[in-house]
Amino acid sequence: MSSPKRRLLVTSALPYANGQIHIGHLVEYVQTDIWVRFQRMRGHEVHYVGADDTHGTPIMLRAEKEGLTPKELIANVWKEHKRDFDDFLISFDNYYTTDSPENKKLSQSIYLKLRDAGLIEMRSIEQAYDPVKEMFLPDRFIKGECPKCGAKDQYGDSCEKCGATYSPTDLKNPFSVVSGATPIKKVSDHYFFKLSDPRCETFLRDWTQVRTPLQPEARNKMKEWVGQPGDSNLGDWDISRDAPYFGFEIPDAPGKYFYVWLDAPIGYYASFLNYCESKGLNFEEWVRPDTTTEQYHFIGKDILYFHTLFWPATLHFAGYRTPTNVFAHGFLTVDGEKMSKSRGTLISAHSVIESGFNPEWFRYYFATKLNDSMEDLDLNLQDFVARVNSDLLGKYINIASRSAGFLVKRFGGVVSDGAMNNPLLADIASASEKIAELYEAREYAKALRTIMELADKVNAFVDENKPWEIAKDPEREPDLQRVCSVTLEAFRLLSLYLKPVLPEVTAGVEDFLSVPAMTWNDVKTPLSSQNPIKPYKHLMTRVEAPQIEALLAANL
Ligand code: 2FM
Ligand code: ZN
Repeated sequence: MSSPKRRLLVTSALPYANGQIHIGHLVEYVQTDIWVRFQRMRGHEVHYVGADDTHGTPIMLRAEKEGLTPKELIANVWKEHKRDFDDFLISFDNYYTTDSPENKKLSQSIYLKLRDAGLIEMRSIEQAYDPVKEMFLPDRFIKGECPKCGAKDQYGDSCEKCGATYSPTDLKNPFSVVSGATPIKKVSDHYFFKLSDPRCETFLRDWTQVRTPLQPEARNKMKEWVGQPGDSNLGDWDISRDAPYFGFEIPDAPGKYFYVWLDAPIGYYASFLNYCESKGLNFEEWVRPDTTTEQYHFIGKDILYFHTLFWPATLHFAGYRTPTNVFAHGFLTVDGEKMSKSRGTLISAHSVIESGFNPEWFRYYFATKLNDSMEDLDLNLQDFVARVNSDLLGKYINIASRSAGFLVKRFGGVVSDGAMNNPLLADIASASEKIAELYEAREYAKALRTIMELADKVNAFVDENKPWEIAKDPEREPDLQRVCSVTLEAFRLLSLYLKPVLPEVTAGVEDFLSVPAMTWNDVKTPLSSQNPIKPYKHLMTRVEAPQIEALLAANL
């Protein structure tokens, strides 16, 4: 039985508008998209929104380098990102930008509510300043010699050579990456969100440790921050940056801008608001504190504390509902190593498409690796070829090609209704709730293992019944129709289970089986003699090993 209709708002992290989408990003969008498509198949009301994360110093400086205005740069990048998401069948209901009027309005009003709640404080702080470029320098824009080993050209936080960690003020002979000038110290006023306020501490301790079913690793990590009453590690959060800065100006502080991480998550709401307005949905109903709607954020483990500390606190103290849950995943490695430009393993989404890869191969492969934990996952290129060819083609697609031909040629595409009572089909259908639970719990690897075990049973059924032998005996026509009908209905069930992962292949299946778009309940709607199937057309090709070499070469 499926659960009562739920109302879900789902997001993936907003990618920065200063770089390409690569396969590391794709893991997250594929993970979210599978979940979203599954929830839609269950009949729930789901809205999946995203946006480009457009503000901040790196984007401002990159635009300048390219001779563009930041708005021109982010408009170009938006088109590329949208193209890549479409290519990988990521089914956003709205893909927007954080540089939007909705986001400006929401960010400013949220800030004013926090200020009125007494949670914003202004303080003067001293920071590195580039006297030539006349701008404050974020840590990553200062380089110098490692204070420990003396290695040259090291960033302000850690040494790549000896691994020492330090602060940018410790660097010897520091210089600004922007102009090469020696940074000076300069004082300016900054605005802080007072997370150390006892109200925030109490709220966050409850939200992270009691109220929200966070992943155990996430809860433990947050425990280190929220600590015990009277003994937390929550520092106040600097939410302002000085001009020049590409972002939104703070309403009561001319020349001061919101730090990009203040308006980025609000960008989730701004994208949703933009969507609600275009679709006539009631935004307020989704975001007010007593709502019964659900809100989920899929993210990488590196941005956990933004989503489980700053974001819920921002929402709560500005009078909004808080996330129902935050789902963090690990990083992608390639052949067991960190993705690297020099090995060609920092693979861009676009190069995958350009090199003739089928995006559903990647969707499938990532799904075979994904679970509910924050552990890293590995793209093993040899294993990729084997999994796609042996599981997807050899076990799954092959089933259709083995049975559809006889049905079309010998029976006009008409299945035998009586065949639908076959115990093999009951067995496959009985797995539907177990598979649904695995998708719901983001245990995709287990779900796919279960589905492939069922595919093994179907292939064993075909091998035992040998339709190609039966076909030689004119007296066994009914048998042939029965065996092929069972096989094809089994294929339909497997396709239904795989639909969240393989939306395009399964759309092809629906077409050739002459069935409407399948929902999860259609486990109970077998093929019928009333709707003859169409001739089988090829659903997917194999991946060839040399394609992998070409892909790596394209990314060098
Ligand atoms: O880490 C990142 O890539 C950020 N651009 C993610 C932002 S997610 C959300 F909070 F906006
Ligand atoms: Zn060093």
